[in-house]
Amino acid sequence: MAQRKPIVAGNWKMNGSIELVSEISTAVNECKNKQVDVIVFPPAALLTKMAEFGVEVGTQTISEFDSGAYTGELSAELAKQLGATYTLVGHSERRAIFGESNEAVANKFAKAQENGLIPVLCVGETEEQRESGETEKVVAEQINAVISKLGIAALSNSVLAYEPVWAIGTGKTATPEQAQAVHKFIRDMLSTQSEPVAQALQILYGGSVNDKNSKSLFTQPDIDGGLIGGASLKADAFVSICNSALGNV
Ligand code: 13P
Repeated sequence: MAQRKPIVAGNWKMNGSIELVSEISTAVNECKNKQVDVIVFPPAALLTKMAEFGVEVGTQTISEFDSGAYTGELSAELAKQLGATYTLVGHSERRAIFGESNEAVANKFAKAQENGLIPVLCVGETEEQRESGETEKVVAEQINAVISKLGIAALSNSVLAYEPVWAIGTGKTATPEQAQAVHKFIRDMLSTQSEPVAQALQILYGGSVNDKNSKSLFTQPDIDGGLIGGASLKADAFVSICNSALGNV
């Protein structure tokens, strides 16, 4: 059993509305005071509204720059002022659609920490990479980009999310064994550099998690909760997923 506190995080992506903020916030507040941290990553425009409900919130990305002529970007400093305590960095959709490199992701990770935000570093392989046996190599490179810039100690104030790209939004969840194998690989890899950092790091699984499969994933020894996309937009499903993390305390 993991000794780490589980996290259940909802990534709304570019979905949701002002109405959904109040519906999900009410549901999330029902799960409060339990042994699980619940965090919601709504679109940035909804951050303040959701934070006002007392829900822990984060941004889906931040700029790698401080301020200036970067039209459309959101700085870490402003995200913090809007009520965010976390930010996702390197979500596979940011990498694939918006061309974020490992280096840019490492810069964002640094910028988050400089501004008091906890980065949730997202890593994961594509289907093609898995089929050609490159899963561990890809995941290691994504994590090492951050470690080589900031050192292993930087991971002690962060969260990791393993999200295989082929499982995102496809309904094709990794089996608990497949997910556990990669989570264990990550923890073993980090423990060669720092056993305390590796043992304390919360590593979430993401990719088609729902209220039916969450329990079997969350009870794996190296899986410390989930990063939920589609199912985080449905109050009932999200609450059951939060409750299913309790068994892992
Ligand atoms: P789905 O749960 O919709 O597969 O999305 C996962 C995800 O990308 C969370 O960040």
